[in-house]
Amino acid sequence: MSGPEDRSLELSGPALRDLIEAASKRILAHIESLPRQPAADTAGGTELARSLETPLPEAGRPAEELLELLFARVIPKSFNTAGPGYLAYIPGGGLPQSAVADLVSGATNRYVGVFAAAPGLAAIEANVVRWFCGMVGLPPDAGGILTSGGSLSNFSALLAARREKLPEDFLSGTLYASDQAHHSIAKAAMLAGFPERQVRSVESDERFRIRPEALERAIARDRADGLRPFFLVGNAGTTNTGAVDDLTVLAGIARRERLWFHVDAAYGGFFVLTERGRRSLAGIELADSIALDPHKGLFLPYGTGSLLVRDVEALKRAHALSGEYMPAMQEDPDFPDFNLLSPELSRGWRGLRVWLPVAMHGIAPFRANLEEKLDLASWAAEELSKIPGVEILAEPQLSIVAFRAVRPNLSEEGLSAWNRRLLARVNARARVHLTGTMLRDRFAIRICVLSFRTHRDRMELALEDIREAIAESELYQR
Ligand SMILES: Cc1ncc(COP(=O)(O)O)c(C=O)c1O
Repeated sequence: MSGPEDRSLELSGPALRDLIEAASKRILAHIESLPRQPAADTAGGTELARSLETPLPEAGRPAEELLELLFARVIPKSFNTAGPGYLAYIPGGGLPQSAVADLVSGATNRYVGVFAAAPGLAAIEANVVRWFCGMVGLPPDAGGILTSGGSLSNFSALLAARREKLPEDFLSGTLYASDQAHHSIAKAAMLAGFPERQVRSVESDERFRIRPEALERAIARDRADGLRPFFLVGNAGTTNTGAVDDLTVLAGIARRERLWFHVDAAYGGFFVLTERGRRSLAGIELADSIALDPHKGLFLPYGTGSLLVRDVEALKRAHALSGEYMPAMQEDPDFPDFNLLSPELSRGWRGLRVWLPVAMHGIAPFRANLEEKLDLASWAAEELSKIPGVEILAEPQLSIVAFRAVRPNLSEEGLSAWNRRLLARVNARARVHLTGTMLRDRFAIRICVLSFRTHRDRMELALEDIREAIAESELYQR
């Protein structure tokens, strides 16, 4: 028989305080050193990963030893996604204020899936959703949910559209997005049970925005073939280049064709807080649903997306189901039961990780940061265009610029291979971390400026490293 001491998981007050203090000491040192840490360091990562495979421990180890393992060995071997030099994929930064919110919500462990279980907490989260609806110009009775990220937001939007627009036998439904749409749209279609062949990848123009004529032709063709067009996605900032589709025109087509109009604003949506962004994203307010990711444009740590829906009842019809063991639900639309609006039942209190930083700082510094990112991307594009032999493949529409180096005697294939090497050379310096993509069969290097920690000084280092990588590479060629 085991004694009570063997069951003890509750830390004494002082022991818990020591644990929190030990973790905060490490966190503070880590954050303070972020600008000096390499922009990425995964050398030896596989060996590290192998060394971490251990049998289930029967007995514990001191917390200090575990924190040392994490902060000295595990965390450093990664992309420094929280650092100022992270200009890859879509950064965000990861406001530590949200990490403190996570500590509070984890330690209090309240249940927000059902309003009645924690009315104040659910109200705070519902209020965050209302802030977001207001930002994008949806009407006051719009609503939605906080999700784990853009992929889940796109998925739930598609489920709502499917439920509203198609009968239960939905396999002949067709979906439309540009050839630049994020792959989470096609994945959502796959998860929702649509055959891959029903997802139309519509041609985009020279600035990577959907061609409305091509879209209309595709819809007409599908109708003539007896298919049922029902879902149109507009991009409000593509992952490749930050391209923004003409959302007003798309909304018009969706209305005429009776399609559900979803806007994937996972990356670009929060730029509506700025004057320039508002102009670029005009028409977003006409959407039936919008995916908007706080873990991108509001600089939160990974794990928070949002889905905003004009007719929140449609979202509910697609997701609401309950069980006899559930507490009584209520009907007040101001205070929803989140589990009825999403595939999730139990989940963390996502609202607090958005609410705390915004309530602490107000929205003004977020807006100012987004303004700065727009400026930095324009500045980078201008500086890149001054480098001889650099071709801008996508001027920034928001905060992404895509480019490549060109040389007259190289084939397309040769150029792509050379640019891949240039990218590797820039990244090897580890002052910034960039990623590449394919733009119409051409390999492009892209810079995405979105972290709240990225400022002009780091962008100057980025430009310096790009210039030098090209110059060194020219030298090798001679
Ligand atoms: C435009 C766009 N949509 C959707 C997603 C998917 O978001 P998440 O990674 O949060 O699932 C991304 C991710 O970068 C994105 O850029």
